[in-house]
Amino acid sequence: MKQNEKLSRRIFLTASAAPLGGAALAMAGGAEAATSTVARLADVKPGKPVNFNYPGDEPAYLLDMGRAVAGGIGPKRAIVAYSALCQHMGCPVNYDDKSGQFVCPCHASRFDPARNGDAVEGPSTRGLPRIQLRLAGDAIQAVGIEQGVVYGRACNQG
Ligand code: FES
Repeated sequence: MKQNEKLSRRIFLTASAAPLGGAALAMAGGAEAATSTVARLADVKPGKPVNFNYPGDEPAYLLDMGRAVAGGIGPKRAIVAYSALCQHMGCPVNYDDKSGQFVCPCHASRFDPARNGDAVEGPSTRGLPRIQLRLAGDAIQAVGIEQGVVYGRACNQG
């Protein structure tokens, strides 16, 4: 084997092992996704998404829809949260304040936070995993995943 082939193989194996190691750790974690304080109620404004990480280091959005939506929490039952990773190939989605939807910059899938994070357009056929929230005083806490599995994970543990 030539030196360049050895190097290429090493780079490939290193790059391939990282996601597998993450999945193995997630499967071996054994615990449900931990409770995590995401924001204070007073700091959340309608239409202004809040970035946080859940479960673990996975990117997620908290969003006040400004009106009652199914599963929303808070005084108006308007606050929801979703994984920020597109269910097509895992690109982080962005919030589009004109449409009120999450839009994937990679292949233009769109997800509706007012409708359970459902995929409403694009190649993704699965909606964004919905993060279960609860209020503890004025603290908004993430306590689990209600539907779906965060992209790239075997499960939502850890
Ligand atoms: S990764 Fe999001 S649409 Fe392809």
